Amino acid sequence: MADSVTIIDNRTGDSIEVPIVNGGVDATEWRKLLPNVWFYDPGFMTTAACSSAITELDGEAGILRYRGYPIDQLAEKSTYLEVAYLLLHGELPNKQQQETWTHDITYHTFIHENMRKRFMEGFHYDAHPMGMLVSGVAALSTFYADAKDIVDPAVRRRQIIRLIAKMPTIAACSYRFSEGMPFVWPDNTLGFCENFLKMMFTPWEHVPWQDPVLAKALDTLFILHADHEQNCSTTAMRVVGSSHADPFTATSAATAALYGPRHGGANEQVINMLTEIGSIDNVDAFVKSVKEGTGGRLQGFGHRVYKNYDPRARIIKKTADDVFSVTGKNPLLDIALKLEEVALSDDYFISRKLYPNVDFYSGLIYQAMGFPVDMFPVLFAIPRTSGWLAHWEELLEQDSKIARPRQIYIGAESRDYVPIEQR
Ligand code: CMC
Repeated sequence: MADSVTIIDNRTGDSIEVPIVNGGVDATEWRKLLPNVWFYDPGFMTTAACSSAITELDGEAGILRYRGYPIDQLAEKSTYLEVAYLLLHGELPNKQQQETWTHDITYHTFIHENMRKRFMEGFHYDAHPMGMLVSGVAALSTFYADAKDIVDPAVRRRQIIRLIAKMPTIAACSYRFSEGMPFVWPDNTLGFCENFLKMMFTPWEHVPWQDPVLAKALDTLFILHADHEQNCSTTAMRVVGSSHADPFTATSAATAALYGPRHGGANEQVINMLTEIGSIDNVDAFVKSVKEGTGGRLQGFGHRVYKNYDPRARIIKKTADDVFSVTGKNPLLDIALKLEEVALSDDYFISRKLYPNVDFYSGLIYQAMGFPVDMFPVLFAIPRTSGWLAHWEELLEQDSKIARPRQIYIGAESRDYVPIEQR
């Protein structure tokens, strides 16, 4: 049997055979037979917008691999910075490459003093840190005029290092501002996560931020969040990048996409939901209300692509145990475990293939580590920056066309303008 599909235009009887290559059919072939007949695909449910060699995701099988390496092996054996290198370069670094990469990221952590004093301190006192991050990353483009040169690979690499290195600094700066606390300068003698925790929590003692278990757990969470193929924010990065905007502006757009509760904001919603449920005694009633459509969605459950247990959620459960051994158990954990147990044995969730996703447990860990819920999407954006940038470079290297979908027009027919007194 041929590995192809045949499309017949029933109006004319014309047909075209289109080969299936790597699980896809080339839409330009369709256009040859049916010009001006568009695929109607809101939410890109059936559209592959690009070809990519970065992340492989098989939602039915629950598989996630970066550049061919299974996520569980990377989470166990690698570090976030090594994974960032892998995503961007396609291969794991050797020792020399690893040292240079770590040095470069570590020595680009500082932000311009105007950025902190004039820009970040200009926000309203209760500004959401994610709003500050979106704006702060866009503002960086005004400090690095060379970023507009997206053709030169060496210049591109400079911006990539700047972005990965400065995200934690801007993130911590936005948090300190919202707390009315002075900014803590980056400490370039520390590792990526240790430095971030120090910038966040110095000199507080209610959070054991100096405990290496927390830095390791954060590093694992950063590995899990580093990339996830063509999700909403990566698509935003690619769409804005396709117009040849500079990488700071494109990253700001991707960060904005991540801000929404359906994407990076879901773990915040999980904490709100668990807090509202309040006790394991209320779990059954809550699940019933979700099924009846009166209780909203079960936050942290379901995924557009995974129709199986999200492999990241499995790893996160183990990380949670490590963190709780240092911080003490998050009191919401028991409610979450009960909720998972009830949902996974309920036909409503089973028949719709709704399993816990990465956000079901990540919020519990972040909360136990002392991060306020407002910071959760920020904690997602920091590591996802390396994934966004890997996709941005891949897009430029493939010389892709500007993203410009078509529409199905359903508005009014042509009509003449009516002066206001006659309406
Ligand atoms: N709770 C209850 N019912 C749900 C849920 C849920 N969390 N998710 C989907 N459903 C139901 C939905 O009502 C629909 O049922 P029916 O067929 O009877 O109308 C069916 O499952 C299919 O839902 P859908 O909205 O068509 O699925 P989608 O692929 O468009 O949505 C999703 C994916 C992630 C937006 C959705 O599952 C959801 O809203 N989950 C809760 C929010 C969440 O946890 N988001 C984090 C995603 S993972 C982080 C990331 O990678 O960004």
